[in-house]
Amino acid sequence: KLRRTVIVRAEGINPEIRKSEEKVVDSVDLTQLSKAVTPYCRCWRSKTFPLCDGSHVKHNKATGDNVGPLLLKKP
Ligand code: FES
Repeated sequence: KLRRTVIVRAEGINPEIRKSEEKVVDSVDLTQLSKAVTPYCRCWRSKTFPLCDGSHVKHNKATGDNVGPLLLKKP
């Protein structure tokens, strides 16, 4: 039987992005995207948040996690 251990750190999932805000919320108008496909960060490690900068690769290697970006496609 597969067992999975989930570790929840007291500081939460967001280590440093816009911590002064009560809630980090972003909105995207898909018709305004400049590229055909724009990757949005879901690992909370990007230096260009909310856009993905590839930092998830380092995060995944360090933690064994498997997170990746949300790809928004221009209609
Ligand atoms: Fe966070 Fe790519 S940097 S998903």
